[in-house]
Amino acid sequence: MTMSENESKTNSTVPDEPIISGHSYDGIEEYDNPMPGWWVWLFIASIVWSPIYILGVHQFGFINSYEDDLSEQQTELVEIRAAFEAANPTATVTEESIAAYVGVQEHIDSGAVLYSTNCAMCHANNAGGLIGPNLTDEYWIHGSKNTDMFTVITEGVLEKGMTPWGAFLSAEQRSQLIAFIRSVQGSNPEGAKAPEGDMAVAATEATSEGL
Ligand code: HEC
Repeated sequence: MTMSENESKTNSTVPDEPIISGHSYDGIEEYDNPMPGWWVWLFIASIVWSPIYILGVHQFGFINSYEDDLSEQQTELVEIRAAFEAANPTATVTEESIAAYVGVQEHIDSGAVLYSTNCAMCHANNAGGLIGPNLTDEYWIHGSKNTDMFTVITEGVLEKGMTPWGAFLSAEQRSQLIAFIRSVQGSNPEGAKAPEGDMAVAATEATSEGL
């Protein structure tokens, strides 16, 4: 590209009668081009917004500050973590860890609520048994230890109609249910089903263990 070609190209972009702003620095002059409309409106909008924002954050509090947002989300995080820990997915459940729930009134009460919502339709309100076996006697089909019950409640016995609860109730809730079942041991309710399974090995020990 020769010099003259280059010049004529540059010249062609210059308006016929350029509006010059009128000042000249070292011989350099400036066109007086207006700013594009969208830019001007954005500029005006940001000026209008700024006092609203300042008052909203610092005076009236209807706009959250960065610290507000942060603490809100941290609270949420604490709640999510607490819920996760309450669900106790990784906790090792042992005979003793369940025994710690047995005989504790608070856990028995929570267990009773869980029982009446989830279990009573099959094991009867008084736990004397309906479709499912009597849970108040000392006979157990699947074993009388806390961990035996925990396994049955967690995994269910699908072919016999006992639902698995592992995915719906936390380890703590399942332990509270056992606390409830232990609390109605020997209550001998009216209309209770006949015993099924084997007599508990050292049933009295198992019952009184956590008391
Ligand atoms: C849909 C009916 C049904 C529901 C709901 C149900 N169960 Fe059962 N459950 C059964 C049946 C049936 C059996 C007997 C299983 C077998 O014969 O192997 C059983 C067995 C059991 C056993 C073992 C009893 C033994 O003799 O070894 C326990 C403990 C138990 N259920 C607790 C619960 C708890 C706690 C809940 C509520 C979270 C519950 N069940 C909800 C039907 C049910």
